[in-house]
Amino acid sequence: MVIDWSDGNKSSLYSLWLRDHCQMPESRNLDNGQRLFSVKDLPSNITIEKAYKDAEGNVCVMFQPENHLSVFCQKWLRENCYELNSHFEDRSEKSKKLWKKDSFDNGLPFISYDLMHSDDTSKVLALRSLREYGFFVLNDVPTQDGQVLKVISELGFTRETNYGALFEVRTEVNPNNLAFTNLGLGSHTDNPYRDPVPTVQLLHCLESSTEGGESILVDGFKAASILREESQENFLSLANTWINYRFSDSKTELRSRVPMIDLNDKKEVIKVRYNNRSIDTINVPQDKMRSFYKAYRHWSEIIERDELKIQFKLSEGDLMLFDNTRVMHARTEFSKSGKRHLQGAYSDLDGLYSLLNRLEMKNNND
Ligand code: OGA
Ligand code: ZN
Repeated sequence: MVIDWSDGNKSSLYSLWLRDHCQMPESRNLDNGQRLFSVKDLPSNITIEKAYKDAEGNVCVMFQPENHLSVFCQKWLRENCYELNSHFEDRSEKSKKLWKKDSFDNGLPFISYDLMHSDDTSKVLALRSLREYGFFVLNDVPTQDGQVLKVISELGFTRETNYGALFEVRTEVNPNNLAFTNLGLGSHTDNPYRDPVPTVQLLHCLESSTEGGESILVDGFKAASILREESQENFLSLANTWINYRFSDSKTELRSRVPMIDLNDKKEVIKVRYNNRSIDTINVPQDKMRSFYKAYRHWSEIIERDELKIQFKLSEGDLMLFDNTRVMHARTEFSKSGKRHLQGAYSDLDGLYSLLNRLEMKNNND
């Protein structure tokens, strides 16, 4: 079926697609809009017998051999016809604002936790910052034990792991992770050994009286785009090479095999992973090993470039929340004197984006 839109656009819609997207009560549940049939229930030799506009301007389509009439409203067709709506929000680099150290002319996205409670505007601001830049920092979050979980509950859902619902980030004796020492940590994404990876990470600063221990963030999508600009070959090598990751302690044995750069069907970046601490034995065919290491070294060199890093010190009460599939985090080494105590937790983008979508829909309707 061909539609000539009044704005000059044209859509050509495949007959089986149209039938599959029928919006009638026999095809969709009226309460929830979910489809009631499977594609295999439709005749494979489906044809459109006729299509016409009814008195209200709806588009009526008669399908054979079923003798099935579908009535589509024009608004639905315009919003859903696939030729004019080719960009689906799949969290790819295309829909993001990529950044470097000098990109924040108006300051970093630091938002008052108190304001977030007084009206939805600050919540929208924070969540948009997460969607566009991949992070935000809340100030003046009460420095109470477990507060990080309270913050998550206001935005989405906690992702519990073997580290617990929350984990303590402070210097420990015999730590099962280098994060629980005073050592500096290079830029990384957390938990690449988990499948699926937690897509949101939170770090809430409860105590901070050490020298050092500053936080660093790097936009991994920007780093990937620089890699692509400088060497398409290295970029594709990382996108096409699956790497083993592993976490192991006395109770846990986690393994995954994933590439460092995930692409969508349009070859746009949708996820990055980078964690030198938790790569397991690299198992790549011998004829690809040299080119893989060339690409891996190039990528790690870009990630550590100063011009990509924003650096700040979390003060007591600051809570940093970031997209763990995009933004890499690091910290500088800190002194043994003084105290540094963070509580960390994981959540997922789905819950936070769902809230943002709802708030944006509410704003549009107000
Ligand atoms: C972590 C981590 C950074 C910090 O716990 O995953 O990277 O600032 N910590 O201590
Ligand atoms: Zn980390």
